[in-house]
Amino acid sequence: MTRRIGTALRVGMGALAALTWAAAAQAAPAAATAAPTPPMGWNSWNHFAGKIDDATVRAQADAMVASGLARAGYRYINIDDTWEGERDAQGVIHANSKFPDMKALADYVHSKGLKLGIYSSPGAKTCAGYAGSLGHEAQDARTYAEWGIDYLKYDLCSLTPSVEKAATLEQGQAIEAAAYEKMRNAIKATGRPMVYSLCQYGINQTWRWGASVGGDLWRTTGDISDRFSRMIQIGLSQAGLAKFQKPGHWNDPDMLEVGNGGMNATEYRTHMSLWAILAAPLLAGNDLTKMSPETLAILGDKGVIAIDQDPMGRQGDRLHAEGPLETWTRPLAGGAKAVGLFNLADRPAYMQVTTAELGLKGPAALHDVWADKDLGKQTTYRAIVPAHGVILLRVAAKPAA
Ligand code: GLA
Repeated sequence: MTRRIGTALRVGMGALAALTWAAAAQAAPAAATAAPTPPMGWNSWNHFAGKIDDATVRAQADAMVASGLARAGYRYINIDDTWEGERDAQGVIHANSKFPDMKALADYVHSKGLKLGIYSSPGAKTCAGYAGSLGHEAQDARTYAEWGIDYLKYDLCSLTPSVEKAATLEQGQAIEAAAYEKMRNAIKATGRPMVYSLCQYGINQTWRWGASVGGDLWRTTGDISDRFSRMIQIGLSQAGLAKFQKPGHWNDPDMLEVGNGGMNATEYRTHMSLWAILAAPLLAGNDLTKMSPETLAILGDKGVIAIDQDPMGRQGDRLHAEGPLETWTRPLAGGAKAVGLFNLADRPAYMQVTTAELGLKGPAALHDVWADKDLGKQTTYRAIVPAHGVILLRVAAKPAA
């Protein structure tokens, strides 16, 4: 283990030395990205945690299609931690008894027009204590490719203490970079395209180097939970990170909690709106087989999804904050803008935004995204935003003068 980390450190230091701090985020390989827009799909962890098995995954895939969410753009069905079984005498990983035939499961998910994702760790153990990929990277990548896997979430887990013990920021980054490059190269060697999702909770400013080690997306925070305070803390902590992202390489503030029951519909609309402005991956984390019409409407809102998936692929950022009143904007293709007026207070509040604040001259055509309603041309927009709520606007591009 120590020798392995020593080697990792040297390899990683070499890789990082070639990249200046500032250039690292822009230095992704030129290869076509597996995630041209932020990945959309479903992941088992937030709702099912350890209680995930083959039948449940098939049922989620069925529900993804039957609900219409697949048509709305959700395509990955991602198995998170606790699928892992034992390695055989040759070191090949096998799924545990909850997943009797991973290849058959992948075939099933593919037959629905969807893609299958899986989970592992660069450490010896995953976060839930199952077998990680340390020392078996190439073998595991080949196994995933043989099964027909399309997406890998690679979670730092048991490597975290060595990263945290590193004497300097650069050494910590180097350990992580080496571990993530190793699996990136192993995936590449299989010849099967897979979305590569780095999960290391933002330790050592992943946004600065995630793209350079092949990450299509990288977690920027610790785990989300199904509480308004935690969701909003994570969302707001993304301020300033937009400049480290580029199309195909996304900051990941963690998966959605929409529909899990810990927040009300107003708060879940705030969650979806903020994630859309952040160009965040939209990985539903609820039980798709038991969705209320309201949950389905929130996850499936076409206007919000169009903002998240905007083809220009540029993350938004905070425009200004006034105590609990937060205004965030995102530039969209063709000169349009998304604007989120977020009221984090416990009571309704007036909020306003002017076209001048958005860098536009004179009135602009506004559209209320959740209400799907044109608001006409306005220079100052003012409205009451509910407690913990949002008004999400799409501001049309101004025709050239
Ligand atoms: C970590 C990750 C979570 C989830 C669990 C699984 O906490 O951040 O998203 O994958 O591990 O054990």
